[in-house]
Amino acid sequence: MRRLGPIGTVIAIIAAVLILGGGGYGAHEFTTQDHFCASCHAYEKTSWDHSDHSDVGCLDCHTKGFTYDKVQGARKVWLTLTGQVNPHNDPLPTYPEETSQNCVDCHMTGEIGEEQPFFIARHERYMERVSTCQACHDSGHDKRLQRMKR
Ligand code: HEC
Ligand code: HEC
Ligand code: HEC
Ligand code: HEC
Repeated sequence: MRRLGPIGTVIAIIAAVLILGGGGYGAHEFTTQDHFCASCHAYEKTSWDHSDHSDVGCLDCHTKGFTYDKVQGARKVWLTLTGQVNPHNDPLPTYPEETSQNCVDCHMTGEIGEEQPFFIARHERYMERVSTCQACHDSGHDKRLQRMKR
């Protein structure tokens, strides 16, 4: 594990605060863009480019609400700046149910229900057996590319 000296630590804290909080609206805009995520998650960017969802933003699937995202984001900047991470081995999302709810918000809308009632009915049956959409669908990342990093 690489350690920052005291000055490095102070710079890291200031950077984290500026990026995630102190900068206000501008910082929020910046940190919610796909290329910000991609600056740390290069593998996921590639497997996402080759998925069915390359037009869907990272945060459309990966959010658990504003406060959680910011706290988790600050922690991640901290871990990265202090060299405590292995980018080749990110953990799986810690909140699969919320991710699944984000899928529902796009794919199970009232409008789709009217156009394709049988699609919804079939899926209600599918969901009786599993707890998330990801149990059956590849979703945001090409599985083969994603596996290559492990
Ligand atoms: C400063 C580098 C950095 C940036 C920028 C970043 N991440 Fe991460 N991300 C990490 C690190 C480090 C981890 C592993 C955290 C851990 O070990 O708990 C991680 C883990 C994750 C995970 C899996 C664990 C979890 O909490 O669900 C997801 C999903 C994720 N990031 C999505 C994103 C998205 C979406 C963005 C853009 C809004 C983003 N990341 C921006 C460094 C970053
Ligand atoms: C922001 C909205 C949004 C979110 C969130 C979202 N999707 Fe999608 N999804 C789309 C769009 C747009 C397409 C491309 C539609 C197309 O090509 O017909 C798509 C395509 C798909 C397809 C392929 C459909 C086909 O016609 O082949 C599947 C399966 C799918 N999504 C499942 C999921 C799952 C599972 C999740 C959650 C992990 C999810 N989606 C999250 C918007 C979304
Ligand atoms: C038990 C497995 C299973 C689960 C769980 C599941 N699906 Fe599916 N999904 C399928 C199958 C099989 C199809 C193709 C046949 C059909 O439409 O029923 C499909 C088709 C789709 C399609 C494409 C429809 C099209 O026009 O091609 C979308 C979008 C989709 N699912 C989204 C979701 C979402 C969102 C969830 C979570 C609420 C989900 N699925 C959960 C098995 C599953
Ligand atoms: C359509 C939804 C969707 C989109 C868009 C999406 N992801 Fe994911 N992502 C997922 C799901 C679902 C998983 C969990 C995969 C699994 O369960 O095997 C995941 C996993 C991850 C992980 C955990 C590491 C791993 O190997 O699984 C990271 C990090 C991540 N995504 C980052 C991103 C980034 C960065 C973007 C944008 C460039 C992005 N995701 C776009 C749905 C999505």
